[in-house]
Amino acid sequence: MSLRRELKPNIYSVGAIDWDRRLFDELIPLPDGTSYNSYLIIGKEKTALIDTVDPTLTDVLIKNLEDLGIKDIDYVIANHAEQDHSGSLPRILDIYPSAKVVCTPKCKDMLMDLLLIPEDKFITVADGETLSLDSKTLEFIHAPWVHWPETMLTYLREDRILFTCDFLGSHLATSDLFVTDEATVYEAAKRYYAEIMMPFRPIIRKNLARIQDLEIDIIAPSHGPAHNKPDVILNAYRDWASDDVKNEVVIPYISMHGTTKQMIDYFVEALIERGITVKQFNLSETDIGKLAMALVNAATVVIGSPTVLVGPHPKVVYAAYLANALRPKLRFASIIGSYGWGGRMVEQLAGMIPNLQVEILDPVVVKGVPKKEEFRALDRLADEIANKHNDLGILIK
Ligand code: FEO
Repeated sequence: MSLRRELKPNIYSVGAIDWDRRLFDELIPLPDGTSYNSYLIIGKEKTALIDTVDPTLTDVLIKNLEDLGIKDIDYVIANHAEQDHSGSLPRILDIYPSAKVVCTPKCKDMLMDLLLIPEDKFITVADGETLSLDSKTLEFIHAPWVHWPETMLTYLREDRILFTCDFLGSHLATSDLFVTDEATVYEAAKRYYAEIMMPFRPIIRKNLARIQDLEIDIIAPSHGPAHNKPDVILNAYRDWASDDVKNEVVIPYISMHGTTKQMIDYFVEALIERGITVKQFNLSETDIGKLAMALVNAATVVIGSPTVLVGPHPKVVYAAYLANALRPKLRFASIIGSYGWGGRMVEQLAGMIPNLQVEILDPVVVKGVPKKEEFRALDRLADEIANKHNDLGILIK
């Protein structure tokens, strides 16, 4: 059976849907699977394939090309060297031996290192360079750091399609070629942004500015469905990548014997009473993607931890390390927790988040269970956060 998924005449989606994958990079949860999109563009004279698929699903890509009766491919455009898009290249080059790999000079070096593709297989392109398929023109836009140093976008002028690889994509397995359920795709795209793109927020803004004057009918990423209403995903990215924060406090925490939880419960109520939105995550079982998403627009994070061997709980260390690496646009941070006989939990945690450009608000750390004065300290911390949010003009009264 042949599966014809046509974006526009002579432009096909020929990639693979990975319904069952549940982890990416052995780290990132994929609750909704993913897809590795590859696009075939058939011009009058030449044929180009944009990106390939994860090596585990190469057979699907090959079958989709066979089903379309493709005998020759002239160019394989490699927008990104990461293996979920490039991993099928060696087999594709075996089957279509006259094909050349078109990519940035940096991508060429990486593909030679990662996949041992011989140098004579490459054509490197400069930023703004074009490649004619006769009836169709590909324009290459170098876009480093979305999210590797070699990344590139490809714009198909005549059909006004922008192929963005990871940028503007979503880990979502769906049989829909285009977005049909905007809310579901928004959620998946936000998760993708939070986990993959957020560390590069200033660069994302530059790239958004770079493409704003292009006439775009379709944004075709290499994960998730294509966007035939480009403004929806572009506006979402503009919001996420902006410096604007929301009236939200994210509380990742662990409690071993219930004391830290008692403090968190009290503190969460105090914040809600002051008109602040709270997103609370028990790190013993949380999906780190959900936590990353919560950090996209929040103004404040308050970490809750007991003391383990004079330091924070290891699962809190893991969350702090991730938050520091993801560089969300937080403005304020604090720490809540407890200890039995002493420790350096606060200093250690505060030292783990140097990338976060935050003001550290007075922590509340208790010996044993919280007593009246510690509950009052939690009220003071909630007041301070409300005042800070009010000063930013984001507190909803
Ligand atoms: Fe989807 Fe950076 O690879």
